Amino acid sequence: MASHIVGEKVSGTVVLIRKTGLCFNYCGGTVIDNVLGRSISFQLVSATVGDANNGNRGVVGEEAYLEQHITSLPALAAGETAYQVTFHCEEKNGIPGAVIVKNNLSSEFFLKTLTLEDFPGKGRIHFVCNSWVYPAVKYKYDRVFFANTTYLPGDTPLPLKPYREEELCNLKGANVDGQLKEWDRVYRYDYYNDLGSPDTCQDLARPILGGTPEHPYPRRGRTGRPPTKNDLKSESRLPLLNLNIYVPRDEQFGHLKMADFLTYAFKGVVRVVLPVLQAIAGATPIEFNSFEDVLKLYEGGLPVPPNPLLEELRQLVPFEMIRALQRVEGGRGLLKLPMPQVIQVDKTAWRTDEEFTREMLAGLNPVVIRRLEEFPPTSKLDACKYGDHTSTITAAHIEHHLDGLTVHQALKQNKLFILDHHDAYLPYLNRINALAVKVYATRTLLYLRQDSTLKPLAIELSLPHQDGEQHGAVSKVYTPAESGVEGSIWQLAKAYAAVTDSGYHGLISHWLNTHAVMEPFVIATHRHLSVIHPIHKLLSPHYRDTMTINALARHALIPAGGIFEMTVFPGRYALELSSTVYKSWNFREQALPADLIKRGVAVKDRDDRLCLLIEDYPYAVDGLQIWHAIETWVGEYCAIYYPTDDVVKADAELQAWWKEVREVGHGDKKDEHWWPAMQTTSELIETCTTIVWIGSALHAAINFGQYPYAGYLPNRPTMSRRFMPEPGTPEYEELKKNPDKVFLKTITSQLLTMLGLNTIEILSNHASDEVYLGQRDTPEWTSDERAVKAFERFGQRLKAIEAEIMKRNGDPSLKNRNGPVKMPYTLLFPSSGVGVTGRGIPNSISI
Ligand SMILES: [Fe+2]
Repeated sequence: MASHIVGEKVSGTVVLIRKTGLCFNYCGGTVIDNVLGRSISFQLVSATVGDANNGNRGVVGEEAYLEQHITSLPALAAGETAYQVTFHCEEKNGIPGAVIVKNNLSSEFFLKTLTLEDFPGKGRIHFVCNSWVYPAVKYKYDRVFFANTTYLPGDTPLPLKPYREEELCNLKGANVDGQLKEWDRVYRYDYYNDLGSPDTCQDLARPILGGTPEHPYPRRGRTGRPPTKNDLKSESRLPLLNLNIYVPRDEQFGHLKMADFLTYAFKGVVRVVLPVLQAIAGATPIEFNSFEDVLKLYEGGLPVPPNPLLEELRQLVPFEMIRALQRVEGGRGLLKLPMPQVIQVDKTAWRTDEEFTREMLAGLNPVVIRRLEEFPPTSKLDACKYGDHTSTITAAHIEHHLDGLTVHQALKQNKLFILDHHDAYLPYLNRINALAVKVYATRTLLYLRQDSTLKPLAIELSLPHQDGEQHGAVSKVYTPAESGVEGSIWQLAKAYAAVTDSGYHGLISHWLNTHAVMEPFVIATHRHLSVIHPIHKLLSPHYRDTMTINALARHALIPAGGIFEMTVFPGRYALELSSTVYKSWNFREQALPADLIKRGVAVKDRDDRLCLLIEDYPYAVDGLQIWHAIETWVGEYCAIYYPTDDVVKADAELQAWWKEVREVGHGDKKDEHWWPAMQTTSELIETCTTIVWIGSALHAAINFGQYPYAGYLPNRPTMSRRFMPEPGTPEYEELKKNPDKVFLKTITSQLLTMLGLNTIEILSNHASDEVYLGQRDTPEWTSDERAVKAFERFGQRLKAIEAEIMKRNGDPSLKNRNGPVKMPYTLLFPSSGVGVTGRGIPNSISI
């Protein structure tokens, strides 16, 4: 620290993305602001010297401006530009820890980083900004960014403290009223009161989810839109094609590819695919007549009548996004889909019992199967209200399939399992079946063979008693049959079971248990943990784009009349049903080991080690490796900043964050006894590991198999339109004569199949700028070498896990890894290329 730095010039590099740089030619922006001159100013804020005349706030240096464009900087991404900036620094101002940035332009820009290569007395100082900076007149406060040094609140250098606290205040936006604008940086909560359109018609009104014991729900991000006229408690909706939904701007990031992708994808589905499909449906029969007909969707494609909207969209979409729309062969448009993995090698193996059960362990929804602990299976439904719902499956139905064991022996030996979709649906069935669907509550009983494969024993289909719900259920039990009409009946029984599993997958496993439950953590983190807080740095990559995709989902996928209601059977009751299931959501049980134990598919041995009762359970085997890798990384990272429990207890930001998660974000669960109390390092590690797991691996396992497994709808139908044919009826005779046609007439219709497939193809995509587990989009995310080294070890462990997954997939003794369809289980393989790959664990829920 020498005297020579008096009045020294310190040069820095700013990386930013001008708004026009992000615009494609169709968005109309052609004027490029000149960022040089006095357009954008930077002022360093001292971390070591406070201004005694101003509450000891870090002193603020002179303004510096962007000078010249640096062309020699390597490793810049598309649209990014680097500029030189020179600061006039005085020794008396000490070492900077923050920077104030003022935008004097007329439009916003995305500020990525500021780097001071060699600050006298300190060396390199790197500021991670990653933020949209709007013109200064839009803000009531200065935009402040911090250097990448990590501080617990109590350790923050005093001159930086007020800046840290004010920034959190700004993000809480307590004084910002009314409809939030795109430049507002406000993270606040709201109920799900934006799903219905009561002003359009009563049929489109939906109950408010969240805030009541009847309809509890996680909170969403607030938009502040005005209420509807007919229901002042409901928020008005934007027109479907208006995608200017308020999400704090930095949740939409600088990587605009995904946002554009989604924007055009949703517009494409709504504006083009649906009308085109309706036109096709009007001109041709709307039923598939045979499985060959279904295959034509992938092999030949459906001809698309000329449609000006389609042409317009082709012009607008700058790269291949909605791939089905891009295909033109022989001068005519074709609605053609890529061949889903599940039928790539074998077109019929999906119909085998082995594949049907394998997908409960290595498919799209491998998180529901549980060990049967009593026979017959029972129900947790309130008997006073719903009567007796004990299963009607008897020993006689199944005993001859248990390798000579009695039911009692099979239970004792942990060989009976169940895919139970009875209780979740039964209370809604009368209402759901009053719509255009005919579905059952289902229970599928399974036997675990020696080789770790599952054999289906029986499927029970249930409806509420016709004399009233209080009389219990009317149930029928179906058992496996290979040929004749019995074989066709059995195929239908499996389809009904697949329908309930598909609905549960989309609504509960996917939407509720990953997308919806994550949003409160995102909001609370921004409101309470400063960007220089270690836990903010740990968790923020796992929040990337989540608020944005959830806002888009509320806009187009899950609202009244949205794509989800159209294509998945609970229809208008879907979200309400998910609220009922949220009543039993338990944060701690989202941890994979706890989930496996709860479902009885794993037990702890004498040494407290977790043992899987189904050894070849690909989701659990791969998942536990990923879980432990995350847990180790989080543990090593937290140990750097939290050497003792007392540090956890004393961290005011951490305590405020956790209080708000429990009492506001998940406020309908605030009285649950199971919340970690956040008093110990092990509670902190468990909590952060679980958040990272939900946002990364759990979501990946549930999301990216959608097209690979369900892209062939007969394998994963999303609705049934007829009940099981009864002997003596014309439907039964038809089933005898043409079982495939009856099967296809029973499951999702052609029109809705096409709509659903276009949607899940979009949702199964990886964008080109996806950031996977073990990666960060900002290499210099922290200046702390210990954290960087621990993160490198995490990346290496994940690489090793990839090799082990490949090895297991190549082991023929592990029959559930590939199954009869010869489709290796790769949903928990950490890395991936672009597109629909059926692999890859992105850091966050971004699609
Ligand atoms: Fe998703």
